[in-house]
Amino acid sequence: MDIFLETPTEKPLSVEAVRQGLQTRWLGRHSVLVFESLDSTNNRAKQMALQGAVEGTIVVAETQTDGRGRLGRSWISPQGAGLYFSIVLRPRTEPTRLPLLTLTAGVAVAAALHSLGVRPGLKWPNDILLSDKKVGGILTEGVFSGQKPEAVVLGIGLNVNTPQDGLPDSLQDLATSVRLHVGRPISRIRLLQAVLEKVEHWYGLFCDDGFDTVLRAWRQFDATTGRQVEVNLPQSRLVGTADGICSDGTLLVRDAAGTAHRILAGDIVRCRVKGGPAMPSLRSAPAGHA
Ligand code: BTN
Repeated sequence: MDIFLETPTEKPLSVEAVRQGLQTRWLGRHSVLVFESLDSTNNRAKQMALQGAVEGTIVVAETQTDGRGRLGRSWISPQGAGLYFSIVLRPRTEPTRLPLLTLTAGVAVAAALHSLGVRPGLKWPNDILLSDKKVGGILTEGVFSGQKPEAVVLGIGLNVNTPQDGLPDSLQDLATSVRLHVGRPISRIRLLQAVLEKVEHWYGLFCDDGFDTVLRAWRQFDATTGRQVEVNLPQSRLVGTADGICSDGTLLVRDAAGTAHRILAGDIVRCRVKGGPAMPSLRSAPAGHA
């Protein structure tokens, strides 16, 4: 666990710092870019992908002025407190499998946090939790030239060293940071390297038709199965019991009548232990953050 603690000589994020000691075979081997500030690392990575950036290109920013989350939410990205980065991938797969890539990345981030000695949870489809509070999220976007799929950009945001008062008032119950959870400042560089190493591993399995293995790992980190959930669907809201994810990456929810619903796109907005009190911490964070 010590290897992840911030040292007094911790350097700022830089290309050299990210590369030094990075144990990947191809991810970040050709192209790593570190910016002081960007609107969104996903925007920059998408531009680069269209200009031919190789698979494994990494775009990191110390802060983002227009960081984006799922469903049009914004991702608050305070300078130097978190990790905000995007990876260019070129999977030879149908665009319809992209949601599975988000789940795969979730496993990678959870596995990296697990190697810190903490017990992260995953909330379908893209939330990473610590103590039932959101600590990170994933935004997967396809890159198209006309109709032709060119690449996929995997954007990852993690609250690493954000202090309590660095989280907006409205999110005090909903979001956390690794530092708040562990009680010590964390090395962002080591955590970034650990996430990259895990992404390479789990993405490799995803590409080699190993999604069953990904699925098993996802279920190990699953924080919602067996809980009562309210899910916002594009046209309606569903209340029921979360019954886990299916092999196609959809979420299964059983309503009070026992009917199973497969959710392809939606957002878990409330979650509680069956019969127990509402757990506000697992409500989906409103626009504005994790
Ligand atoms: C979510 O929880 O809805 C996903 C949040 C993803 C945030 C990351 S930060 C790096 C990358 N750049 C962005 O603009 N968004 C992603």
